[in-house]
Amino acid sequence: MSSTLKSLRALSDATRLRIVALLEKDELSVNELQEATRMGQSRISTHLGLLQDSGLVQSRREGKRTFYKLNPHANGAAAEFIQLAIRGAKELQEHSSDQINLKRILNRRREQAQVYFNQVAGRFDRVYGPGRSWQAFGHLLLRVFPPLVVADLGSGEGLLSELLARRCKKVIAVDNSEKIVAFGAAKAKKNNLKNLEFRLGDLQNPPVEPDSVDLVILSQALHHAEEPAKAIASAFRMLKPGGQIMILDLARHNFEEAHELYGDRWLGLAESDLHRWLEAAGFKKIDISIVAREEQPPHFETILASGQK
Ligand SMILES: C[S@@+](CC[C@H](N)C(=O)[O-])C[C@H]1O[C@@H](n2cnc3c(N)ncnc32)[C@H](O)[C@@H]1O
Repeated sequence: MSSTLKSLRALSDATRLRIVALLEKDELSVNELQEATRMGQSRISTHLGLLQDSGLVQSRREGKRTFYKLNPHANGAAAEFIQLAIRGAKELQEHSSDQINLKRILNRRREQAQVYFNQVAGRFDRVYGPGRSWQAFGHLLLRVFPPLVVADLGSGEGLLSELLARRCKKVIAVDNSEKIVAFGAAKAKKNNLKNLEFRLGDLQNPPVEPDSVDLVILSQALHHAEEPAKAIASAFRMLKPGGQIMILDLARHNFEEAHELYGDRWLGLAESDLHRWLEAAGFKKIDISIVAREEQPPHFETILASGQK
């Protein structure tokens, strides 16, 4: 059958004119068409099949649902047939109720996203959001990071060092565990991070040359040191003038099990002690604040402390 005949046949029925008119504003699922026309699914599906066969309508699958829309490439006779169908639908008795239903359906669709965000307002940062992670935020922030030379003291296997190495000029990761250093170095090699160097050493007296780095990071490492003040003084020495120290650590807590469970030397650090040590080492522009609090007991809090040489 020619496409013109198919189109004429497709439009020779009042229900199909109604469907074409409903699809004028937006694509609709079978359920939505059912709701707008108050017709059963099998009837709607038969009509949609004929309209699709004529090329006036197209469909796409999304999960378990099928959406229909007017063929955006319809031109010439097909485009005229569509306009004719829309005009014809307006003469039908059901037209006004179809359009009222359509308006309600489209409004509800728009509101659905807002309903979700309204529901989570105030706790949005605590609920799961597809694709949203601190790791992704980390990468975003790194894009605005200058190409610094960084020393990551008590680096562990290099979770942070690896991230930084993707952006920084050089990262020196220092740890006193031989196994960790070997593992971190092998991983850096595997990931082809030539500017990430692991060194075995103590963070209280790290194997890093004086006045050689722009940034010293101590992330969850200082509470392992016998003498945290000594580590901070060493950090000052290895920084270039104007360089920065950044400390992430646990605030003072009473969770005694941390000694055994995590091998912690200190049960967190007091903000006042950190301030005193930073000042004694010579740091200026000291800034200390609590930046995170865990929801689960024992409610560990994280301190971020910084200073400039
Ligand atoms: C809790 S992990 C933190 C690792 C990493 N900085 C992070 O934030 O994911 C502490 C690390 O410090 C290292 N460490 C503990 N005492 C140290 C010391 N005196 N000198 C150097 N590294 C030390 C441990 O081997 C461990 O890898």
